[in-house]
Amino acid sequence: MAGGKFTVTAALPYANGPLHLGHIAGVYLPADIFTRFLRLNGDDVVFICGSDEHGAAITLRAKKEGVTPQEIVDKYHRIISKSFTDFDISFDVFHRTSDELHHKTSQEFFLKLYNSNKFIQETTEQYYDIDFNQFLADRYITGTCPKCNYDNAYGDQCEKCGSDLSPLDLINPLSTLSGKSPVLKSTSHWYLPMDKHESWLKEYIQNGVLDREVHHNPKLWRNQVTGQCMSWINGGLKPRAMTRDLDWGVKVPLPNADGKVLYVWLDAPIGYISATKAWAEANNKDWREYWIKNQAVDRKLVHFIGKDNIVFHAIIFPILLKDHGDFILPDNVPASEFLNLEGDKFSTSRNWAVWLHEYLASYPDKEDELKYVLTSIAPESKDSEFTWKEYQARINNELADILGNFVNRTVVLTHKYYEGRVPERGGLNEADKALIQDLETVPRKIADLIYAYKFREAQSEVMNLARIGNKYLADQEPWKVVKNDPERVKTVINLSLQITANLSLLLLPFLPKTAKKLQSMLGIVLTDWREGGTCDLVSAQSVINAPEILFAKIEDTMVEFEVNKLNQTDTLSQGTPQKETVSFDEFSKMDIRLGTIISAQKVEKADKLLQLTVDTGLDQRTIVSGIAQYYSPEEVIGKTVAVLLNLAPRKIRGIESQGMILMAENESGELSFMSPEKAFLAGGEIR
Ligand code: MF3
Ligand code: ZN
Repeated sequence: MAGGKFTVTAALPYANGPLHLGHIAGVYLPADIFTRFLRLNGDDVVFICGSDEHGAAITLRAKKEGVTPQEIVDKYHRIISKSFTDFDISFDVFHRTSDELHHKTSQEFFLKLYNSNKFIQETTEQYYDIDFNQFLADRYITGTCPKCNYDNAYGDQCEKCGSDLSPLDLINPLSTLSGKSPVLKSTSHWYLPMDKHESWLKEYIQNGVLDREVHHNPKLWRNQVTGQCMSWINGGLKPRAMTRDLDWGVKVPLPNADGKVLYVWLDAPIGYISATKAWAEANNKDWREYWIKNQAVDRKLVHFIGKDNIVFHAIIFPILLKDHGDFILPDNVPASEFLNLEGDKFSTSRNWAVWLHEYLASYPDKEDELKYVLTSIAPESKDSEFTWKEYQARINNELADILGNFVNRTVVLTHKYYEGRVPERGGLNEADKALIQDLETVPRKIADLIYAYKFREAQSEVMNLARIGNKYLADQEPWKVVKNDPERVKTVINLSLQITANLSLLLLPFLPKTAKKLQSMLGIVLTDWREGGTCDLVSAQSVINAPEILFAKIEDTMVEFEVNKLNQTDTLSQGTPQKETVSFDEFSKMDIRLGTIISAQKVEKADKLLQLTVDTGLDQRTIVSGIAQYYSPEEVIGKTVAVLLNLAPRKIRGIESQGMILMAENESGELSFMSPEKAFLAGGEIR
């Protein structure tokens, strides 16, 4: 198997928000494990990713944050690439689709297809928002799904039932810009006649054959991928527009195409090619070797994605590549199902998520712990769930108690009995022989699982070897035998060290940091998978380093903290959706200043109210405030707080209140004053 040539891609994340653990477990971590393994196995591999910076996902986000699309993609490209680096995902290149090289590459690709008549141009009526003077494609329009009745389906896809839609399919369509129902207006676009491709696609997906140059093992495709593709094809493919009326994206490189850009799902996968070009240029390589068909070399293109991307990678992109003519087609599209979080779907809008950059900021030394847990529960063939309780259990019971414990006992005993010098092996008994036999089969078994895209099982085989090691030590009891038969103990420790060394190699794709730590403890450097499975990875008489604890146990307090944090941000963000935009002029009408409370008393028969006299710097006035449950009159006297002065006066319990004290509220509804951090005087303006 070694010596293969691979182009491995991981779905280009939209640069419209940070990454959460669902993205990592489903796409980036399995892709990284696969690539690290291929490199160790001597395969030639390039690992490609970058940000997806076009499409409605970006422009809608920009509108929401009140900034330009370019500002949005710059901001999230930075956040996303930093968290990939910090998490040690080993991309060869992390490119971006706003790069000029990408615009050029995708325009050339489009033109090649255009010039060979692969598109059909059609003028149709499309939805248009009159208030915003804009056509409404894809996510700019929502409505009821005609297939499942979900009432928040997008113009291009129903996220509930996964159906592929066009805006005209939606029942009760509404513009996401104005919120109104759109009108129809005619416009001209270039369509990919997908219907013409049905028969070869069936062959390609089900049987893995296309022509002599394209062949893959269909058994290695995940069931849900083949299943989803076949249900699409059997449902009948329709022509799909490859251009859009939008002002953000790759311009359509044709005359008379002003205001039109390439469909984001046309340009984004071509982003894999642009990224390879950028990498090749910087590293003195030839990108063609990884993408262009050539009978003499067997190449494999592998796309790691989430299940919502299947049709784009397994149907549309293959059609485009084949239509172009020069390119290889995907060998596999290992798509993951979804990861849930503490009993609910990950949701960016409700902030129900564990964000990668936040995790890394809180636990900068626990990347491998997270990698281990995410691979253990990876949603490879069905949806799965992350809970902090399981995170703790996996780390404490598996990483610490099995792997950490085995390594620690082995290294500690080597120091205790032999001052860190690796002892020679003597004659072997049955248990030793069984151990060696087990060891010999492990690297091959793991390799087969990885080539079959079964990373969960592959990782658990590594842990199994640690389990075997633990059991071997427990059975051989070197700490007892040492009293009567010290020679025998040398063999036991030597073999345990060989197992440890093998672990330090086999862990490299999964837990690279831990694997390297282990190797430095043993004073060895292993970089070739094919060295594994033998008993001569550490030589007798070499000296190993002092033991280090590999994994600290996770305390209950951390679990509680993280679960609380999740619930808090969830209620806060649910309770306070952002209000409508106000202009600066509107805001400036409010007269907010610091006021000092000079007297306070309870309002009779109203247990929530305090009647305050406030010095505003201009005057002294009466304000009634609903804070009696949180502050006593004595407590508030002398406090300088934020006051809205020009709120229309109103009578509360017969008392005229001339303004309002501004209060902060937390997730349990408690109120707190907002006071300046420095000793500022009453009358200071708040702007
Ligand atoms: N940005 C898309 C998503 O997050 C994935 C794009 S993959 C690519 O769903 F191939 F098109 F780039
Ligand atoms: Zn639906």
